[in-house]
Amino acid sequence: MCGIVGYLGKRPVTDVLVNGLSNLQYRGYDSAGVAVVNENCISIVKKEGKLENLESALESTPVSGCVGIAHTRWATHGKPSDINSHPHYNADKTIAVVHNGIIENYKELKAFLAEKGYEFYSDTDTEVIPKLIDYLYEDNIETAVMKATDMLKGSYALGVVSSKDNNKLVGVRKQSPLIVGIGENENFIASDIPAILDYTTDVYLLDDNEFVIITDEGIKIVDRNNNVIEKAIYKVDWKKENVSKGNYEHYMLKEIHEQPEVTKNTLDSVIDQNTGFFRKITFDKEMLSNINRIYLVGCGTAYHAGLSGKMAIETLARIPVETDVASEFRYRNPIVDSNTLVIVISQSGETADTLEAVRKWKGKAAAVIGITNVIGSSVSRECDKVFYTRAGAEISVASTKAYVAQLTLLYLVAIEMAYTKGILTEEESKEYISKLYQLPKSIETILDSEDRIAALAEELKDEQSLIFLGRDYDYPVALEGALKVKEITYINCTGYAAGELKHGPIALVEKGTKIIAVCGSMRIEEKTHSNLREVMTRGAEIYCVSSTEHKEFTNIVISETIDLFTPILTVVPLQLLSYYIAKHKGLNVDMPRNLAKSVTVE
Ligand code: F6R
Repeated sequence: MCGIVGYLGKRPVTDVLVNGLSNLQYRGYDSAGVAVVNENCISIVKKEGKLENLESALESTPVSGCVGIAHTRWATHGKPSDINSHPHYNADKTIAVVHNGIIENYKELKAFLAEKGYEFYSDTDTEVIPKLIDYLYEDNIETAVMKATDMLKGSYALGVVSSKDNNKLVGVRKQSPLIVGIGENENFIASDIPAILDYTTDVYLLDDNEFVIITDEGIKIVDRNNNVIEKAIYKVDWKKENVSKGNYEHYMLKEIHEQPEVTKNTLDSVIDQNTGFFRKITFDKEMLSNINRIYLVGCGTAYHAGLSGKMAIETLARIPVETDVASEFRYRNPIVDSNTLVIVISQSGETADTLEAVRKWKGKAAAVIGITNVIGSSVSRECDKVFYTRAGAEISVASTKAYVAQLTLLYLVAIEMAYTKGILTEEESKEYISKLYQLPKSIETILDSEDRIAALAEELKDEQSLIFLGRDYDYPVALEGALKVKEITYINCTGYAAGELKHGPIALVEKGTKIIAVCGSMRIEEKTHSNLREVMTRGAEIYCVSSTEHKEFTNIVISETIDLFTPILTVVPLQLLSYYIAKHKGLNVDMPRNLAKSVTVE
């Protein structure tokens, strides 16, 4: 979603800001803007559309200074337009604000400020903030920001500058991410690490209701009562290469190709190479023996990983698991008590609905565990315990390598639970782990058939709709394949459990209907084949991902593994298929329309 960058230092400020925004583009946005403080005024340039529009505007109207804030906006309140873009400012342009999140009481605040004579021009919730700060300003910007946040309801990460305090950059967060980048004689604020990775890997991770005040003297972090907070410096271990495309045309393709390495990295982070067994056992035996229900909670692709995780935990550890979409879980009335484990799954660790599951059930469930890819993310900080996927920065909006890493971790969690409960012996656990270690090689073999999958994508690119089918372990992969193709190709895709076909979806099938079947799981392969024959007799054409060739279908063959682990393999051809369909259609693969990488508002 929206991205924030702020800079105070000696470099040309717009270069740093625009570079930061450029590295945040993957989050999704529809307009961009900067505000730079120079002596006694603030220059603001903002444009609807892609960053290039802002860059051209900055070329024709150059602005300079040594402190500034910048923003990429993903519209929530008010359509994408120049006027609705951030930064927003007060009447005399002495205060400028960028904001991520949603101000829930903006209507009340607008009415309150209008009564005091303030005028509003945009349709945004954000515009109340600079005007409120203006109203509350007495002698310094940070105190005015603090007073303003006392009156704001909702979620926010803010970057604020003022020409009345012209060498100061103020930031604050509440339920929306904000980090502080620490440089030499220069410092940064940003909503996400890639924005500052070109300049520093040292950061402070702000917690809710913490304010940062950056001046020439350095960085000060304080709480609402102005008490100084000493924070530890966190060293980011992502590499710069992670946020570049390398030799690939798109991030998505690069990230698909990173999956063998990512799977290995995730395994290595938990497994001791010498023993082939867990480095440490994380689950307490007694605690686990009292757990009678697990909820796996996530959104989109992370939810699909949860569906496979459910099957793994139930199969191996014999604990009942429910997988839930976070936006549903937060509003329904689940039975969560001290015998329940809640596990949330989130690549970004910042998804608003998923975080709400953490906040709602922490302290009530036996434990809330997070599976996330971003060290220092809100999920990692707010959960009782965290497992990290080691996927590195995932830039493409369509999640691929993070999903495979989530599956890997969920399998490890299932094995460890089964071992802790005494269901699997150490030797049996090692057997499963060694099978997991074979997967990177098997993914590589699938990647070798990339050209063939690209050719199949050419055949499918003009379809209006596609049906994805799978049973058992293949069903979540069918859902994930449908989501992947849908989100980047805009083809209407639906995923069904193969056995559900006759209960409605088969009515969609006519001559020429293209069906993508996932048949990785051998144990009931024949059942899915019967379903496929039913649709073939009605004219459907089948593209089948499985470990054996079948004359009747167009086949995409994967290497064999145990049924339980097949989702890590069967998903790869589907990712490639979606990538190549989008590429053949000439679409923006990495930044599909309307989507944001990190969904920080509900
Ligand atoms: C799909 C996709 C989304 C995310 C979802 C959750 O490719 O990327 O469906 O999986 O928005 O995001 P995280 O995992 O960051 O919570």
